[in-house]
Amino acid sequence: MSSDGKFGIALVGLGRSGHFHLTSIKGLSDSVSLVWVVDTDAGKAENIAKNMDCKWASSMDEALQDSSVHIVIIASTTDTHFSFIMRSLKAGKAVFAEKPISHTVGEVHEAVELALKKNLPFVCGYQRRCDKNFRVLKQHVEAGSIGQLKMIKSCSRDNPLPPLEYLRTSGGIFQDMLIHDFDMQDWLSGGQIPDSVISVGHCYNPEIRKMDDLDTVAVMAKYPSGLIAMTDTSRDASYGYDQRVEAFGEKGMLTAKNEMTSTVELANSAGHLMPPAAWSFPQRYEEAYRVELKEFVALVKAGPESEEHKKEQCEMLRHPRIVKVAAAAELSWRLGRQVLLSEDLAALEKEAGIVHDNDKLSTASEPVDTASVVSDTISSDEHRAASESTGTLSEDEQAYKEKTSDWTSTTKRNSFGDTFRNYEDSKRQDVVSKTYHTMHAKQTVEFGRQQREAWLKFDKGEFTIMEMIDLLDDLVDDSDPDNDLPNSIHDFQTAERIREQWPDHDWFHLVGLLHDIGKVLALPKVAGACALEQWAVVGDTFPVGCAPSDACVFGVESFKGNPDLKDLVYSTANGMYQPSCGISSLMMSWGHDEYMYWVLKENGCTIPDAGLNMIRFHSFYPWHDKRAYTQFEAPEDAETMKWVKEFNKFDLYSKGDELPDVAKLKPYYQSLCEKYNVGGKLRW
Ligand SMILES: NC(=O)c1ccc[n+]([C@@H]2O[C@H](COP(=O)([O-])OP(=O)(O)OC[C@H]3O[C@@H](n4cnc5c(N)ncnc54)[C@H](O)[C@@H]3O)[C@@H](O)[C@H]2O)c1
Ligand SMILES: [Fe+2]
Ligand SMILES: [Fe+2]
Repeated sequence: MSSDGKFGIALVGLGRSGHFHLTSIKGLSDSVSLVWVVDTDAGKAENIAKNMDCKWASSMDEALQDSSVHIVIIASTTDTHFSFIMRSLKAGKAVFAEKPISHTVGEVHEAVELALKKNLPFVCGYQRRCDKNFRVLKQHVEAGSIGQLKMIKSCSRDNPLPPLEYLRTSGGIFQDMLIHDFDMQDWLSGGQIPDSVISVGHCYNPEIRKMDDLDTVAVMAKYPSGLIAMTDTSRDASYGYDQRVEAFGEKGMLTAKNEMTSTVELANSAGHLMPPAAWSFPQRYEEAYRVELKEFVALVKAGPESEEHKKEQCEMLRHPRIVKVAAAAELSWRLGRQVLLSEDLAALEKEAGIVHDNDKLSTASEPVDTASVVSDTISSDEHRAASESTGTLSEDEQAYKEKTSDWTSTTKRNSFGDTFRNYEDSKRQDVVSKTYHTMHAKQTVEFGRQQREAWLKFDKGEFTIMEMIDLLDDLVDDSDPDNDLPNSIHDFQTAERIREQWPDHDWFHLVGLLHDIGKVLALPKVAGACALEQWAVVGDTFPVGCAPSDACVFGVESFKGNPDLKDLVYSTANGMYQPSCGISSLMMSWGHDEYMYWVLKENGCTIPDAGLNMIRFHSFYPWHDKRAYTQFEAPEDAETMKWVKEFNKFDLYSKGDELPDVAKLKPYYQSLCEKYNVGGKLRW
């Protein structure tokens, strides 16, 4: 508390929710003072600062260092929440964050654990808990007014449709909207955890559909106690904001209805007419937003020894619980089946093709300082192991890499004695050109989705790495102008060249061997009738869902006939992505790179991430070689690209090498497979 007896506040994010928090702060002027407003939109921040007579900034750095700030309110876009929460807690501030904390249970746990470790007040804004009507309903449930609780039914329909820009970073309807209902169910049921959920949904709005999201959903949850909870939600209710809750029990029913704009009913020949419901959430929850902040400030004021503080700390673990239910509900819709909460949700997410923001590179403009988070909580040895496993280069390695990086200068000719990557008049021009033209016309967003659905179930069989390499003897890559040898030879050539230049980096040797094995997608012996034609397996890759770049081989012309070029969104430069979203968040054209990456992830391969990314992006020449699609890069992609480029020299220029003695080399590479946890039968 400062000398005037007030708590200093930094408010981060000045959009729709930032505004209702501003209103609440004004109403609490006897106990708090607004010290900073922060928004990446500097103009907005400056204006509001002028009105509120406080400081402003477009990043939260200064506010975090300011000792007169005791409370940080985080109301910026959802994708920033986790990193901002972590940074604020680490700076010793009490945190009030808008929902959700994060979409991944792991991150929510991390945030809660840090708040507990630092013993700081941390509340996430599920304001329905502060709504006076829902509070009365809960009091009745707790008082036994309806006996044993058997069913909870909630209805949650937004109005008006939120801006599409908001929806793009919202994390989807399950984590953005239904999370409030899951919170309500958690609250009313006294913290019960469902054992299964089942969801159905539809998307009427074509723009939302393109985001791979829904606008209309129904979810049912079943609890071990027998309780059934159901909720329906829509992004758009034409008659106003609609949020109702019903609790049904052995002795009766409780209903919390909408609050109408007045209580006056007009009866005439048309019927009994009531005025409309509140227009939207700022009106409906105006009082609840005020109450939630007031109670938060009271919690901060009560201090860490108080009963309220201890109670809130005990109840904090509800947050990962709720996010887990939301994740399971989304999986139920995506997989088209009931999901048990006891299932391995991470594995199901993989099956459903869900990639989290934190699996991708962070899109927050102030990403979490993970290095310092890690160093806060783990020992330096563990830290070293962690940085090794993510493929971060030490200084020695960096120096070594610089030393070897001009290796290609001695090798200028491919196996035909031609220059490399000749797409104009190579000896294989016809077949190469045909493969690329078909690929560019047929790789669409829809095709990519279908392939992920078909292949990432890993139900094609169990084979060892060496069995797959032997099968690749049958495959000559139709996109390759540099060689017409079986692909298995190329795998060993690449690996051996890397081994020669990077003798101490055995995981890198293994990457050389594994990088092209995904080409088994084209082999009927592996995939039966699902085997793909080579245009969907080999060749340079590019992102679908945005306009093609002329840097792709055979140029934009070769994409003629691709139906996505007629799509209003997919045909634009950024297409279905946000700028700076990170290369890992792009939906790449389907082929061997992406498939092999996921095969290794699925089977628990322990090659460092830098190596797995080499496999995933080695064919993305338009990016790493021609520097197209850079609008999607996040800062961390620079490191990924360095490694991919290092790898690509060996992939490309080893094609002029002597034929390797495969039988002699196999025992060494089998030992590497074992070392990196892919020595036995893998699921493909
Ligand atoms: N509890 C509720 O009823 C409720 C209602 C609406 C929104 N929300 C939550 O509030 C959050 C914001 O939603 P909104 O509707 O206000 O969105 P909004 O788009 O109206 O506002 C977001 C604001 O954050 C700013 N911003 C973005 N990145 C930033 C960064 N890195 N640093 C600082 N500012 C940044 C934007 O410039 C914008 O002004 C969302 O996470 C949402 O889930 C909660
Ligand atoms: Fe390849
Ligand atoms: Fe290759």
